[in-house]
Amino acid sequence: MIVCVCNRISDRDIARHARAGMGFDDIQLELGVATCCGRCEQCARDIVSQCDKSHPVAALRDAGAMPSTALACAA
Ligand code: FES
Repeated sequence: MIVCVCNRISDRDIARHARAGMGFDDIQLELGVATCCGRCEQCARDIVSQCDKSHPVAALRDAGAMPSTALACAA
């Protein structure tokens, strides 16, 4: 799904960078998400937070307790 229409950035793009350990600010610099109209910022931040290993749902996913389709970052 495209999250940032202005820069054509998908949830998978954001999740891939977040899983690589990048925070929102780094992802914003790298991909350009939320650098135009800004309407995608909260959604992008939510995706980054879901992929944070300290996030309880992400930790469950990594343990194999969640189906791979439960989160955008699980793909
Ligand atoms: S939709 Fe992302 S900056 Fe406009």
